[in-house]
Amino acid sequence: MATRQKSAPAKPRVEVKSEGKARGKHNGTIEPAKGKLGVMIPGMGAVATTFVAGVEAIRKGLAKPIGSLTQMGTVRLGKRTEGRSPKIKEFLPLAGLDDLVFTGWDIFEDNMYEAASNAGVLDSRLLEQLKPFLSSVTPRAAVFDHNYVKKIDGPNVKKGKTKMDLAEQLRADIRDFKKTSGASRLITMWCASTESYIEATAAHQSLKSFEKALIENDEMIAPSMIYAYASLMEGVPFANGAPNLTVDLPVMLELSRQNDAPICGKDFKTGQTLMKTVLAPAFKARLLGLSGWYSTNILGNRDGEVLDDPGSFKTKEESKLGVLEHILQPGLYPELYGNIFHKVRINYYPPRGDNKEGWDNIDIFGWLGYPMQIKVDFLCRDSILAAPIVLDLVLFLDLAKRCSELRGRGIQEWLSFYFKSPMTVPGLYPEHDLFIQLMKLKNTLRHLRGEELITHLGLEYYD
Ligand SMILES: NC(=O)c1ccc[n+]([C@@H]2O[C@H](COP(=O)([O-])OP(=O)(O)OC[C@H]3O[C@@H](n4cnc5c(N)ncnc54)[C@H](O)[C@@H]3O)[C@@H](O)[C@H]2O)c1
Repeated sequence: MATRQKSAPAKPRVEVKSEGKARGKHNGTIEPAKGKLGVMIPGMGAVATTFVAGVEAIRKGLAKPIGSLTQMGTVRLGKRTEGRSPKIKEFLPLAGLDDLVFTGWDIFEDNMYEAASNAGVLDSRLLEQLKPFLSSVTPRAAVFDHNYVKKIDGPNVKKGKTKMDLAEQLRADIRDFKKTSGASRLITMWCASTESYIEATAAHQSLKSFEKALIENDEMIAPSMIYAYASLMEGVPFANGAPNLTVDLPVMLELSRQNDAPICGKDFKTGQTLMKTVLAPAFKARLLGLSGWYSTNILGNRDGEVLDDPGSFKTKEESKLGVLEHILQPGLYPELYGNIFHKVRINYYPPRGDNKEGWDNIDIFGWLGYPMQIKVDFLCRDSILAAPIVLDLVLFLDLAKRCSELRGRGIQEWLSFYFKSPMTVPGLYPEHDLFIQLMKLKNTLRHLRGEELITHLGLEYYD
């Protein structure tokens, strides 16, 4: 397993005390980000390797953390006339990139250098420069069930009589990594394949019923849930980058709150859905009607192959379809959004590899009902868009864990910004609009430090 020695002396950390300074009272306390942060990744495929290789490239000064809010973003504080816009990483005590250490699990035995080479996202010249480091991150044996991911199978899989045995083995891995890496804190980040669609059953409703189901090998317990259970039992926060249920279950919320291990998910918001959650709010803002939105994708990576299976595709489809309904609110605007034809297709097309092409045909209508069309053709790179999201989630979840105001709340809804299908407490509809999500995230950061929340009212400038 990889551990990394610090190459540079630790930077001074922002001191956060429970009492506010000039601007008001901090809400709660934030423990300093002391020591290493261990990042544990089920699924060492395209996204995971692009993330880890990227972090190492940035640490070596070979590249910039483009796309990462924690590394490049700022947060405006106070009035527009004050000129206070610190970098987010200077405003809050986030872990530094030099403090990250990694491990992972995969059903294949490839180390991160081999897996990154196979994924074909990053060019070989860059990978050669990172080879010693990436080769040192080798996968632990996975908890895997072919029934949940039909298109792939691999040799590096744990054996156990019951699902509880498998959970115990994962817990032992977690403790082993903590010890061998010297990490003071840990995070689990699901970057493994999308599992087949299932709905929650009685087994997922409470810790008691879930543990009974683990012992009885209930087929409704998916592998991702076993990783989640193991992490949360160890008090380790868990983020879900895929659309599987995983932590979006009453049992996981219970466990998360009980063990102060924050959770968030689900399904990274990267390409087509990112565009959807930018465009749909614009239509609603201008009260332009929508009659249809046809989205199709071609992609040729392993994720595309997995999603070629109807069970895994259904999980993804559910995650992608919910977005428009929540943004456009057809109940409130029936003449504009009461009759939308929304279709999402994903086609596995090997020649494209990770370089996905996503087409959208959007039929809108305006004044007096006159129709118009918008076409979007996004030639994107899936894992290049996902990697900075992984980095931000790792750093923000670690912050949440160190933060008395956030750690016992379970779901971290302020991280909705990063997800296609944001988790919320039961009964609360999710916010999908990217700009509402960003405001929520930044206001959460302001709230933690006792800064005024920004409402954009602005009347005071005209007094
Ligand atoms: N790249 C994006 O833009 C994006 C966006 C949203 C969601 N996602 C999701 O992120 C996940 C990762 O995407 P990717 O492109 O890296 O896929 P990938 O196929 O390259 O990597 C997934 C890896 O997970 C491994 N795996 C499968 N089941 C496992 C298990 N039970 N335990 C451990 N390892 C397991 C596979 O062997 C594979 O190496 C997918 O679920 C994908 O749907 C990706």
